[in-house]
Amino acid sequence: MESFVNEVNFFEGNNPEDIVAQYGTPVYVYNERILRKRIRNVAGVVKKFPYKANFSMKANSNLTILKIVLEEGLNADAMSIGEVKLLELAGFPADRIFFVPNNVSDDELKYAIDKGITVSLDSISQLERFGRLSPGARCAVRINPGIGAGHSDSVVTAGKNTKFAVEEKDIPELLETARKHNLKIVGINQHIGSLFMAPDPYLAAVTNLLRIAHKFDDLEFIDFGGGFGTPYHKLAGEQEFDINLLTEGIEKLLGDFIAETGKQILFKSEPGRYVVADSSVLLGRVYATKENYDKKYAGTDIGQNVLVRPTLYGSWHDVEVLRDGKPVLPSSGTEVVSVTGNICESGDIIAKERELPVIKEGDLVCVLDAGAYGYSMCSPYNSRPRPAEVMICEDGSVKCIRRAETFEDLIRLF
Ligand SMILES: Cc1ncc(COP(=O)(O)O)c(C=O)c1O
Repeated sequence: MESFVNEVNFFEGNNPEDIVAQYGTPVYVYNERILRKRIRNVAGVVKKFPYKANFSMKANSNLTILKIVLEEGLNADAMSIGEVKLLELAGFPADRIFFVPNNVSDDELKYAIDKGITVSLDSISQLERFGRLSPGARCAVRINPGIGAGHSDSVVTAGKNTKFAVEEKDIPELLETARKHNLKIVGINQHIGSLFMAPDPYLAAVTNLLRIAHKFDDLEFIDFGGGFGTPYHKLAGEQEFDINLLTEGIEKLLGDFIAETGKQILFKSEPGRYVVADSSVLLGRVYATKENYDKKYAGTDIGQNVLVRPTLYGSWHDVEVLRDGKPVLPSSGTEVVSVTGNICESGDIIAKERELPVIKEGDLVCVLDAGAYGYSMCSPYNSRPRPAEVMICEDGSVKCIRRAETFEDLIRLF
């Protein structure tokens, strides 16, 4: 594929130059049509049995996006009380929020308890704390199934090298702690990690969690976590994550479990990235081109403060070059260039030594798959205010869904 934005008509007939003329660069641009399609895909992962997908909002916490997620019928999981409050602001009722925190204080737990939000405890020590605060309550626990998967060690959240969850050998002590406080463990959840492109590791983890589920008597739900991948190398032909293949595998496992146990269980998942990644591109302007010791650089205003994934994980994002609002296609000639940002760090590189269409000063770069862990991981490092987010609606109109920060926003806390 030479151009993703052309292939899917990402800008829906709008000229990206008009968008940046109004909102500046850098700017996150979302496509509502693609977003809704992804949401519907995850909502249908399991059809034969009771199932609910929870959107993992750490991937994207924009209020407009949360409202769309709610409207489409997904539930949501939150990692902090800040996330819980955003979900409440978007209109999510307590029974559609799942609080899955890590190492939280009494105050955070109390907030969720008072609101009647189901909490998943991620260690025996946190279960003990929860039990002291809310004896007799219903809760869930996060299990580490001993299997992890992901695109980088930093996002593998299960297995033998992670801080997350309770390992299987500690379940007797966990149950004892629950008994002591008269807690009812109504759910178990797991999250093995992020970004796998084939269902196998997920199905292996589902199999394992279903086996572990036999150790709990009062289960009402089992949550298998997120992690469904997005093809970040789509320009090179990488194919989409095959949701149908996942459905086939998972429904077989769930069918066997129900036949064996006769239990009425709600099954859940927690996808974040898959829902939002390819519904957004990040536009930035090229302000300088240069050669340093025979290496070419295109200097843009997309710093690591705006999109940190390449710096943090060495992640790959496809990059397109736009001139006069249209993609410059690789077939017009390419060169090897590093696309960098404007931050005072050597690691401030969006795309390292990439073969790209020849970039000129004044071009726009269009970073693909920016919707997940993009804006939600932004920072004002180097005192650069965070960018705006805009959405191209299904009717083709463009609306601002978060204004750009200003210098005044940055200094408000002093
Ligand atoms: C507990 C939990 N659930 C769900 C997710 C979402 O993962 P992904 O965005 O890969 O689907 C994460 C990501 O870190 C997580 O920690």
